Amino acid sequence: MKASVTPCLNGDAKKNQNEFLYLPVSVEDLHNNRSGRNFWVYTKEQGAFSVVGNSARQRAEHCFKDEEKWNKIECGLLYHSLYYTIPELKLNCIFTTFCPANEDVVEINRVILENYGSEILEFVPTAAFPIFGRSADNLRDHRHATSLMQRITLEENGIVVKPTIHHDERGHEPNDTSYFVYGSDESGQAAVEMFPTVEEFIGKGGTLDWPGTVVENSIPEHDMTYRKDGMECIGAMRFAKVRLAPGEKKEYIICAGITEKENFNKEFEKYNSKEKVEAAWKQNEEHWNGEADKIKFQGNSDKFDGWLRWVSIQPVLRKIYGCSFLPYHDYGRGGRGWRDLWQDYLTLLLQNPMRVRSVFVHNMKGVRLDGSNATIILDGEGNFQADRNKISRVWMDHGVWPLFTLLLYMNQTGDISILDEEVSYWKDAQIERAKRIDTNWKKEDGNSQKTKDGECYTGTILEHLLLENLICSLNIGEHGNIKLEDGDWNDQLDMAPDKGETIPFTAFYGKNICDIADLLEIQIEKEDRKTISVFEEMEVLLEGLKEKEPQKEVEVLKKYYEHIRFGISGKKKKIPVLELKDMLRWKGKQLLQQVRENEWIELSSKEGFFNGYYNNDGNAVDGILGDGKLRFGLTAQTFSIMSGAATDEQVQKTIHAVNNYLPDKNTGGIRLTLPLGDNTWNFGRGFALIYGEKENGGMFSHMTTMYAYALYSRGYAREGYQIIKSIYELSTNTQMAQIYPGVPEYISSRGRGMYSYVTGAGSWTIFLMLTQVYGIRGQLGDLLIEPKLVKEQYDSGEVLTVDTLFAEKEVCVSFYNRKHLDYGEYQLGELSINGEVWKNQINSTSVVLHQAELEEKLIAGRKNQICIELVERKG
Ligand code: G1P
Repeated sequence: MKASVTPCLNGDAKKNQNEFLYLPVSVEDLHNNRSGRNFWVYTKEQGAFSVVGNSARQRAEHCFKDEEKWNKIECGLLYHSLYYTIPELKLNCIFTTFCPANEDVVEINRVILENYGSEILEFVPTAAFPIFGRSADNLRDHRHATSLMQRITLEENGIVVKPTIHHDERGHEPNDTSYFVYGSDESGQAAVEMFPTVEEFIGKGGTLDWPGTVVENSIPEHDMTYRKDGMECIGAMRFAKVRLAPGEKKEYIICAGITEKENFNKEFEKYNSKEKVEAAWKQNEEHWNGEADKIKFQGNSDKFDGWLRWVSIQPVLRKIYGCSFLPYHDYGRGGRGWRDLWQDYLTLLLQNPMRVRSVFVHNMKGVRLDGSNATIILDGEGNFQADRNKISRVWMDHGVWPLFTLLLYMNQTGDISILDEEVSYWKDAQIERAKRIDTNWKKEDGNSQKTKDGECYTGTILEHLLLENLICSLNIGEHGNIKLEDGDWNDQLDMAPDKGETIPFTAFYGKNICDIADLLEIQIEKEDRKTISVFEEMEVLLEGLKEKEPQKEVEVLKKYYEHIRFGISGKKKKIPVLELKDMLRWKGKQLLQQVRENEWIELSSKEGFFNGYYNNDGNAVDGILGDGKLRFGLTAQTFSIMSGAATDEQVQKTIHAVNNYLPDKNTGGIRLTLPLGDNTWNFGRGFALIYGEKENGGMFSHMTTMYAYALYSRGYAREGYQIIKSIYELSTNTQMAQIYPGVPEYISSRGRGMYSYVTGAGSWTIFLMLTQVYGIRGQLGDLLIEPKLVKEQYDSGEVLTVDTLFAEKEVCVSFYNRKHLDYGEYQLGELSINGEVWKNQINSTSVVLHQAELEEKLIAGRKNQICIELVERKG
């Protein structure tokens, strides 16, 4: 179940785009829509109240007054409890919502009502859960007609809705899915009355927040025209009248779900008592705590560590939700985007290093022969979709992410054999990076690349990586940078496909090409590798590496496309590794040099920055404008620093410029960019957004976190820490940010946290904290420890600890800093493993524990304690 819930119990729940249990909601609907989960009590003397405050009367009377006094939320991993008091009745309510961590697509709602007054309280309780029960598309595609397709069954404990067909004019399909709302009191007593249609429940003139049957405590009179089928439905059920003595409690359980099974009672029986609900809740908490504790930081601020626990489940949440299905994420139809998938694995793989191998192998099947890729990843392994909107386009950054993530995998595990795995390529009508259509390709041909003989072609993962990175590196624009095509990481930059160039990703590809050269070197050294095999048509590209002029490189690409236009032979060609490695190294360095030398804008002896882009008119986007104003953004600084393109001097000047010009005066957050002025039709849709929001100058957490990572990776820990701290403070300033814990996609210029949970910032934060801040990361299977901890993190304490997995063993690494030394002042002293001194004085700022030593010293099935003393640095 993919669900969302707000303090008023609004939100929705669904299995996928086509199976929505509740009405699909976007953020505006959270206050517009009356269709949320609700539970009512009616008393003879005082009338109707919603136990969660969601009635027209309570809203009118209490809104803007002192509602906060009797309204509180408690949220944990992953449940949500609303504490609400109805002062008029002296009734307390605790309404808890969670979805059990198992295969059941069900949401459990537990309602506890307590009479806190001194008199007996009598009331009639009614649960009301409106059921949408169909595809989200039907909201604006035949909503009424599809309501006519609903069929209702009343069971002893609940209401079941089953549409007769899955309505889709492109091809209707039979429907096997049912939607149900079941309920009982704590002792299993079923409702005494059910109202399965919205019409009868609300009555003439009623609304869902002032429903006739509740307000008048009536039973609707059905005339001859009454029917329950073919209507908008609701799981509304009235339970027997309750008499609560002072201090007494009464409990109800409402289960709402989606199933293809027929025996609904059986589904409900799993949760129909207080004990069963408590057991499911406990199991759910254990599950999510387990996820959050896979990498567990323990420092000197419970609030910061607690925040990190929420952040560490964000990549898991995005695995489930993709970038859809939450109130702000009202775009998309599920599935995960290519770049999001690979970046989320930075943390997912640190949490489960050994489990991800096959996922990576399968995902490489998404690469096309032109180096682009299918963009949407569906559930299951190796299931892709070219693009959700069937629009042909290419985001040029896609090729950088697989290598970046696979490098982390190879370093954590030492498994470089993954490079030799053979997998297929993706094939569809889109060729030459969306510039042409292959009219010969038919859907029936399937989505894997065939040879001219009709055989499925497979090549090594190394070949796939080479192809992705090489093609982009040769796709150079007139200023010597890689072409922007239809966008890069910033997918709002989608209007400069002809003359647009991207500097940040020129730097990133430059780094990647050097990294591939390093990998080849490792293969030469470790395996005495002399040649690698690639499909024969690829040789043209490799030859292209010898071209030193950008124009010629583009010609090489054209030649390559011609070679593969009608497919490939399937024959392999052996390429000498030594020569290839040198050519790659040259090319990678040349790209880095291009950024370093030609895109640097020096402001003074203290400040400077990298230009980010060229727009579709071929003009530099950033720089010093005519009126003396500056224009630049964080993306180019981040990747120029991270890739090594920037010299140390440039890094220092960039830090100055970022700190000087990019902070938002209202919030203090580092903006993604300064105002982009007249870059509109010649650059991208993003600049149609108001300045200060999202990619147009918001504090865009994902990039800010990557910037912090870049700083740490170059040894600028104090500066990096300030950035992490600012994201943390903005995200946890609840009064202002108004979000539950976690890092949101961005902080608006008004300080609001926007687009909760599913953002790449989640994965990057944990990846950054573990591998850079605590400095625990693999080096081809060996364990490198290089802490970059600043004094402030110790506060008044002496130790910082992290629990993680390495080489399939649990380790707990503690850094003792008894003298409160700052980063730069310390080096590593004594290191002990499980109480045994491994080395007295390390005498360096980092240490490597080799695989063989780890095998010997770390014990499986228990937590291995590695303790390190930070001592004064010598020299
Ligand atoms: C989102 C998208 C990501 C894209 C970014 C910038 O970021 O998911 O693919 O690169 O916007 O346009 P996120 O919400 O993951 O931080």
